[in-house]
Amino acid sequence: MAETPSAIPLEKFPQHVAMIMDGNGRWALQRGLPRLAGHKAGTENLRRVIRASVEFGVKYLTIYAFSTENWGRPPEEVKGLMYILEDVIDRELNELNKEGVQLRHIGRLERLAPSLQKKVLDAIEVTRNNDRLILNIAFNYGGRDEIVQAIQRIMKDGVPPEKVTDEMVSKYLYTAGVPDPDLIIRTSGELRVSNFLIWQAAYSEWYVTPTFWPDFNKEEYRQALESFAHRDRRYGKVASGELQESNA
Ligand code: FPP
Repeated sequence: MAETPSAIPLEKFPQHVAMIMDGNGRWALQRGLPRLAGHKAGTENLRRVIRASVEFGVKYLTIYAFSTENWGRPPEEVKGLMYILEDVIDRELNELNKEGVQLRHIGRLERLAPSLQKKVLDAIEVTRNNDRLILNIAFNYGGRDEIVQAIQRIMKDGVPPEKVTDEMVSKYLYTAGVPDPDLIIRTSGELRVSNFLIWQAAYSEWYVTPTFWPDFNKEEYRQALESFAHRDRRYGKVASGELQESNA
């Protein structure tokens, strides 16, 4: 049976959770290990978080695995992260598919090795009919890059300026058809957006924890969901209770 955070009505759960999986490097450093060991531990944790997401009834999970800026990291770390993506698909695809997880990619595929591009596209194809959890992997993703590409495509399509609306821009993004994230979780305590879903996050709630990503466990994930459930989302308006009082 699905495990849910205690005493929280189901409709209060976030439908779309996005995660900035930060702190792998510092996790490794604290243990005197190379940075890649942190990314490996982070990958193990990701496996657990995906399963927990299914249990918590989350419908969309978007994870920030490699940003357009991460190319500036040491070559062995970049290579290691590419290898991790490949390895995750090789080892996990069957199991994820069985669990009803649909894999999607957001970002630019074209800079990846052709064999890795193919692997990603094949995984997307194999899982395309699954609907228990939509897992968006942001890999070679940048929020500004996504918006620039959207503008270019809108202009190429010859859309007249007065026809450009919020909804239309959303349809030109990688996340077209996916609801905006309700909750964004950032581990390792940094208070930055880091070019992640900058359009889509306009009204997302944030949960920032000092915990490094490899240590962000199911219990803390549950706490993040519970914290979300207690928030009053006003979308720039006033609380509904306040409105009734002022009308009275
Ligand atoms: C940020 O921590 C983390 C990343 C840039 C990579 C995240 C990748 C994983 C969790 C592995 C799963 C990956 C795939 C492809 C499925 P950091 O290295 O910046 O940590 P630091 O700020 O402590 O140095």
